[in-house]
Amino acid sequence: MSILYIHLPFCNNKCPYCDFFSVPRVSPDIKDRYTDSLILEFEHRKAELGDKLKTMYLGGGSPVLLGSNNLIKLSKHIKDNFKHIEEITIEVNPEQIGDINVFLELMLNLGVNRVSIGVQTTNQSILNLIKRQLDEQKIKETIKLLRHNGIDTSIDMMFGIKDLDADLDYVTECRPEHISFYMFTVAPVYEYFSICPSEHVIDKMFNKIHKKLSASGYIHYEVSNFCLPNKESKHNSAYWEYLSYVGIGAGAHSFLEDKKIRRWNKSDIGAYINDPTTCYETEELDGDKIKREKIMLGLRLLQKGIGEELLDAQMVQQLFDRGYLDRKNGKILINIKAVPIMDEIILKLS
Ligand SMILES: C[S@@+](CC[C@H](N)C(=O)[O-])C[C@H]1O[C@@H](n2cnc3c(N)ncnc32)[C@H](O)[C@@H]1O
Ligand code: SF4
Repeated sequence: MSILYIHLPFCNNKCPYCDFFSVPRVSPDIKDRYTDSLILEFEHRKAELGDKLKTMYLGGGSPVLLGSNNLIKLSKHIKDNFKHIEEITIEVNPEQIGDINVFLELMLNLGVNRVSIGVQTTNQSILNLIKRQLDEQKIKETIKLLRHNGIDTSIDMMFGIKDLDADLDYVTECRPEHISFYMFTVAPVYEYFSICPSEHVIDKMFNKIHKKLSASGYIHYEVSNFCLPNKESKHNSAYWEYLSYVGIGAGAHSFLEDKKIRRWNKSDIGAYINDPTTCYETEELDGDKIKREKIMLGLRLLQKGIGEELLDAQMVQQLFDRGYLDRKNGKILINIKAVPIMDEIILKLS
């Protein structure tokens, strides 16, 4: 069982707060060539994926900007190689949904069963500041239409900005199968820094999100992620569980657990198009680093946690006595009240 990430680094405009590798206003010709390069890289590396592909994630950027024909060509090629893929997710910026029936048609054509929509916030003054547009009603209708057609939705929100109550009301009214609440992080540029509250306020906001979404039937299964029962992101769960993944496209990362290798393609569309099979770098991971990363990622899984054998028993007991850790099904979990000091706890445990 393997998982595949495909990076589609195209956006209409670069959002000023976003650090992900993406390029605005790329020509149609480059997108066509990029699609061919993705297919070439996939062919070159598909042996790494084994016999069965469990999940495929089309991320970005704004993947729909690759163009419908290119997306269909790409997904068809992959599905010709792997017949049954359990979960196929695509990210979308609300501004690129367009006509919702046409959007649905494309999703069905691609075989997508999960759409991740970057709502971010409902506060108009913040949307203006971060240069985003949102039609709240349209997103609600899109979720309803997708659900009616067997497609789950995830909503991305950013917190640490204003108006958490309105945002929480909105997401619970939309009731998508999955919600990600990311803490708004920015380089210390004054314009944004002036709207970022203190750490204390952020901790209170985190608690509020946890309480409100838990009371609304969502399971807080990862520090930044909530889902309705059995609606975890299978793709992202594999990252947190430290399983191998293959990433293709400019800027995409891969992790080959058996070889203890991390590899990443250069964040350069031109170089990628020239030769998608050679423009990458690698890092070999030693035992200590692997252990640290396993602890760091595993502790983020608030319901599953990590195996006790990875941790120092004395330190576990100390943190357990202070109420920072819990035990469940033979695993060690971080207690929700300790999440704000998670970095310190990870340091102590690794
Ligand atoms: C790779 S982006 C793709 C989303 C899609 N292109 C869009 O704009 O809606 C995935 C998510 O990362 C989150 N994100 C991006 N920059 C962030 C930042 N500075 N702080 C917190 N979250 C951020 C946003 O919630 C965003 O929806
Ligand atoms: S559209 Fe999405 S990926 Fe592109 S810059 Fe904005 S947040 Fe980042």
